[in-house]
Amino acid sequence: MSKKIVFSGVQPSGGLTIGNYIGAIKNFVELQDEYDCYYSIVDMHAITVPQVPKDLRKNTLDVLALYIACGLDPEKSTLFIQSHVPAHAELTWVLNTITYMGQLNRMTQFKEKSRRSEENLNAGLFTYPVLMAADILLYQSDLVPVGEDQKQHLELARDLAERFNNRYSETFKVPEPLIKEQGARIMSLQNPEKKMSKSDENENAYILILDKPDTIKRKIKRAVTDSIGEIKYNDEQLGIKNLITIYSVFSGASIEEIENRYDGAGYGKFKEDLAQVVIEALRPIQERYEDLINNKDYLEKIYREGAEKASYVAYKTLRKVYRKVGFIQK
Ligand code: AMP
Ligand code: TRP
Repeated sequence: MSKKIVFSGVQPSGGLTIGNYIGAIKNFVELQDEYDCYYSIVDMHAITVPQVPKDLRKNTLDVLALYIACGLDPEKSTLFIQSHVPAHAELTWVLNTITYMGQLNRMTQFKEKSRRSEENLNAGLFTYPVLMAADILLYQSDLVPVGEDQKQHLELARDLAERFNNRYSETFKVPEPLIKEQGARIMSLQNPEKKMSKSDENENAYILILDKPDTIKRKIKRAVTDSIGEIKYNDEQLGIKNLITIYSVFSGASIEEIENRYDGAGYGKFKEDLAQVVIEALRPIQERYEDLINNKDYLEKIYREGAEKASYVAYKTLRKVYRKVGFIQK
């Protein structure tokens, strides 16, 4: 029996945070033995907000190096750059024609982003979820590991797959989201009601996978907590709740173990230990990253081979789609 298919992507729009790691990349790694996995660096999504071209190039290679440094194995998973497989743009066009404006208007990420950049609202930002649906549907994906914030986009991908299948006959697999209960939404260290995001204007709000130990210590020390003074996992203490989640994911200790361990301890001690846990967990990733980023030839080989493997599968689906909608075969 052939393996089930997994697809996911990360935007090269800046340094990756521990939110990206916990909500996405860590889960990518866990899936790679059991599934046939495609992990893309979605540069076409990234340009829906203004990017400095040379930074985008650097960030794209950084994400590839981080994928591998975090444990993705190019021998097991297909790692590729989205713009290297033009089928993504081509399928997006076809899917655009079956997507309703009303659906896209309801996307919360679009609503948020459009509030932030009102005078320069571009059409790419609006159809961003359609490109994401094309990413997923091209590979006949069964499962899509993502953080909580992508749930609505996944529902659109499922909806478009079903609509296309109903209109033109069975073509796409309808994908399932894979959103882990723990860590699907790592919160800002400065405002625990907001998602941790690499685009936050306050750099104390996030920890980057590549942050230096001193920076990690400083950011955790400054993390917003509360005046209750107990290390308990609950919704009255959202800051502490978030820090316990981070502690748990990086140490492997359960929430209960952590609560017991810090019963009666102060926030200062807890934060100091948490910083050590995060620093130690990130250290091997950072070391592997340093090696990889200095080995551009190797990275080039990986993304070239990845694009070739991905193209083969993607074009099989795209040819089917073109035939079904009535395009003449070339
Ligand atoms: P992005 O950086 O927007 O391309 O996101 C890449 C992946 O990381 C997606 O699956 C997101 O859902 C996930 N992600 C981003 N930020 C967080 C966060 N704060 N907590 C959990 N997952 C996140
Ligand atoms: N939109 C996703 C994000 O910002 C990234 C992404 C693009 C993606 N294409 C995808 C995730 C396909 C999963 C599947 O997080």
